[in-house]
Amino acid sequence: LRTAIFISGRGSNMDALIAAAREKDFPAEIALVMSNRPEAEGLVRAKAMGLATAAVDHKIYAGREEFERSMQQVLETYRIDFICLAGFLRLLTPWFINLWSGRMLNIHPALLPSYRGLHTHERALADGVKIHGCTVHFVVPQMDEGPIVAQAAVPVLDDDTPESLGARVLRQEHRIYPLALRLAASGAVRVEGNRVLGAVPTD
Ligand code: GRF
Repeated sequence: LRTAIFISGRGSNMDALIAAAREKDFPAEIALVMSNRPEAEGLVRAKAMGLATAAVDHKIYAGREEFERSMQQVLETYRIDFICLAGFLRLLTPWFINLWSGRMLNIHPALLPSYRGLHTHERALADGVKIHGCTVHFVVPQMDEGPIVAQAAVPVLDDDTPESLGARVLRQEHRIYPLALRLAASGAVRVEGNRVLGAVPTD
């Protein structure tokens, strides 16, 4: 399965997906790394690793539709079958999301449906929750919704800061995103309504 990873910045989940895809018998290959920010650190690293990269700078387009049509063209050029959003900080329109329905995953740094949106670690600490985590889900037009493929939980410790908690969650992100891509790309799971069936527990 020819997979594109969409990033906007650091790209540590991208690194984890690239490393996993290099393993023998992994059902997906990373055929493209795309960023809406030409200066994204992850893009520089992907290039240095010899991967195909594309920067589609959202700022030079008149609107979301033009931006997305341009991305779609690049995806077609590279014959992409599957997309992993990995820290991609642009909202996508229903048009684009529906084009990739069932073929696009996202990772979110919280245990959905809790803490949709931004600043998830700050909000979890402010609420005093004892368990936090991350979620890989299929993308649907509603932000941070969609059938859940994999989740991992981490404890929240008394002396946690958003940074220390975020780092603990990020280690789990790097573990479950490759696992979720493997499940989705191999066809081991199927989507029924809002549920992904056939997924194995991640720990
Ligand atoms: C991760 O926390 C991910 O869950 C969120 O954005 C962050 C991206 O980090 N969607 P990185 O670019 O993969 O390092």
